[in-house]
Order: sequence, then structure tokens, then C-alpha cells
Amino acid sequence: MKTILITGGAGFIGSHVVRLFVNKYPDYKIVNLDKLTYAGNLNNLKDIENKPNYEFVKGDIVDGDFIHKLFEEKQFDGVIHLAAESHVDRSISNPTEFVFTNVIGTVNLLNGAKNIWKDNFSDKRFYHISTDEVYGSLGEEGMFTEETSYDPHSPYSASKASSDHFVRAYLDTFGLPAVISNCSNNYGSFQFPEKLIPLFIHNIKNNKPLPVYGKGENVRDWLWVVDHARAIDVIFHRGKIGETYNIGGFNEWANIDLIKLMCREMDKKLGRPDGESEKLITYVKDRAGHDLRYAIDASKIKRELGWEPSLQFEEGIEKTIDWYLENTEWLENVTSGDYKKYYEEQYVKR
Ligand code: NAD
Ligand code: DAU
Repeated sequence: MKTILITGGAGFIGSHVVRLFVNKYPDYKIVNLDKLTYAGNLNNLKDIENKPNYEFVKGDIVDGDFIHKLFEEKQFDGVIHLAAESHVDRSISNPTEFVFTNVIGTVNLLNGAKNIWKDNFSDKRFYHISTDEVYGSLGEEGMFTEETSYDPHSPYSASKASSDHFVRAYLDTFGLPAVISNCSNNYGSFQFPEKLIPLFIHNIKNNKPLPVYGKGENVRDWLWVVDHARAIDVIFHRGKIGETYNIGGFNEWANIDLIKLMCREMDKKLGRPDGESEKLITYVKDRAGHDLRYAIDASKIKRELGWEPSLQFEEGIEKTIDWYLENTEWLENVTSGDYKKYYEEQYVKR
């Protein structure tokens, strides 16, 4: 039985990855290590928490001693590293936290793997999950490829770029068998409602203003989170050591067009007159250093590993809106902070 560490498995993307691996690979022991910050929520994993091949460990990747002991104890065969501070706006108000978790946390995990694997790397793999934001901002033309130079602009993307560099440095210096992927914006179920799509669904439903940064002209490339989890599965098992893979949806939307689409869909679903929800759109001060456009060229992963997105965006966004409208309890728990109690009840009091 292989033991695989997934970090950040209680977060948005991590919970989809944990679910996929626990269900698809009963012969793997999946250890989900998560600090349970405001973004980590064990309610995201209720459907698999009692499976015999799943274990949750609460812990902080910034704590080097703890990580050292955890690797010694569990002797992981592979690592899929998603834990991060992930919200650009929070990185503007508190950059230092991003250096601790995203940079130092990543280096601690690299040290943990290097320490237990020594020079015996056969069948071992350290997979680091990164973002397209490390490449900076595009103008109206072009796409990010795996060869695009790094040019991060926010403290978040700078910290992710730094962590990517450390992973490559451990590969080049110590031969650590590492692979990296850089993905575009994800959407789907279980996303913390401070990010655009779940925040706006919540606000439209509750007739609250929709704060559009600047003129809403910024473009993002949206990918269904389940397709990202599928790509992670493919890269973890078949990606070549030392390689980078870009993952994206070939699905660019200017924020304002996406927001208007969501408003129209929600008018229909909530039985409101056409155009009613659009009235909630409120243009606010732009995000500092706001990147204009991201677009991923995901042809390498398609060509080499046969992965491509499975879901059209129009269908995906409708599914996503339905999920947030149906899962009111999840959303209320998250917005009220009640989800924090779940860990206490589930793991501390037992
Ligand atoms: P998220 O914020 O929803 O989840 C992050 C998880 O990491 C949370 O469960 C949190 O509790 C945990 N965590 C944070 N600090 C920790 C620490 N010090 N120790 C242990 N656990 C800690 O993030 P997400 O959107 O699911 O992103 C996951 C990864 O994917 C990140 O590395 C992010 O950079 C990357 N990524 C995200 C997107 C996106 O659109 N969301 C796109 C590309 C790449
Ligand atoms: O590109 C991948 C990245 O996508 C990930 O690495 C990040 O972890 C993830 O958070 C996401 O970053 P963005 O900054 O693109 O996502 P966010 O949902 O915060 O914003 C999407 C766009 O919408 C962006 O142009 C800013 C804008 N926006 C966002 C919010 C929260 C608004 O106009 N108003 C808002 O209230």
C-alpha cells in the first residue's frame, strides 16, 4: 500500500483531489494534512471521512519540526502539495502570512521528503500545485506556455513563484523527483465565498451589491475544479519528473461578461424579472496591481498526457450555481463561521 500525503486537502481544490484519490485508489492510504485556516473546512469531505484509506491530520506546514516528525512517522511515498494562502486580496493586506505558508511551508515539505527518501527516489514523487499567476499578466494577445518567464505581481503570486523556484532548486540540486503544474482559475463546489464566483452567487441570492473591481475588464480563464483534480491525477501518475504542465480551460471571460451571465442565470433560477440581478452590479476601486489577463495554453498536457477539460463552461457554471443554491447549509456555515465547530465535534471531543 502506498501512502500519499495531500496537503491543503480541506480547502477548495484539495477536497476535490482527496475525494478523487480516496475513491479511485483504495490501495493508497491518503493522509490529508491541513491547518484548517479560515479556508479549510472538513465539511467539504464528509462523504469520504470514514473511508478506511483516509486519514486527516491537523497541522501547520510552517512548523518544520512537526513536518520532519510526520514524514519520519508516515514514510510517505508521494506528496501532492496544495496547502497555501490562496487569496490575492488577502495577500495585499497581509503579505507576510503568504511568505510563511507558501514559501517556508513548501521548503519544509521538500526537506521532509528529501530526508526520508535520501537518495532512493525510485517510485517517489513530489508534486507541487501552482498557479498561472506566476507568469504575470498578458495583453490582449497570446497565452502562457510552460516556457513563459515568471513575472509575478501580487504578494500571492510572488510567494507561489518563489515556492516553484524552490521545488526546481531541490530537483536540480538534490535530484528530488518533482513535478509542477500551473493552473488557471478554478470554479465549482466547496469554494470559500471570498472568491469571485461563490461570493457573487451568495450576494445575488441575498440582494447584496456585487463589487466589480475597476471596469470589470480583467480576463480570467476558468476551469471546472473537478477537471483540475482529474489533471492532478494524470500528472501525479504519468507526468514526467522535472516537467511543468500548464492546466487551463481554454475558456476566457472578461469579469463583467461572466458576472452578467451569472446574473441572467440567477434571475431565471430565482424567478426574478430579466435584468433584476444586474442592478446589483457596483463598480468599486480596482485591486492594486490587478493583472489584466490570464490565458493558459494547455496543449502540452493534452498532447503528452491526453488530458483535456470535460465540461463546457455554460453547463459548469449552471451546475455550480445550482450547487450553491441547493447547499444552503454549507454556505450558511461558512459565512457564519460555524464550520469551525465541526472540527471540534468531529476530532477533538471524540
Ligand atoms: P484554499 O484557500 O481553498 O485552500 C487552501 C487550504 O490550505 C486550506 O484548507 C487551508 O486550511 C490550508 N492551509 C493554509 N495554510 C496552511 C498551513 N500553513 N499548513 C497547512 N495547511 C494550510 O485554496 P485553493 O483555491 O483550494 O488552492 C489550492 C492550491 O491550488 C493552492 O496552492 C493554490 O495556489 C493553487 N491554485 C488555486 C487556483 C484557484 O483558482 N483556486 C488556481 C490555480 C492554483
Ligand atoms: O489564476 C489562478 C488564481 O485564481 C489562483 O492562483 C488563486 O488562488 C485564485 O484565488 C484565483 O485568483 P484571482 O485573483 O483571479 O481570483 P478571484 O476570485 O479573487 O478574482 C477573480 C477576478 O474577479 C479578478 O480579476 C478580481 C475580480 N474580482 C474579485 C472579487 C473577489 C472582483 O471584481 N470583485 C471581487 O469581489
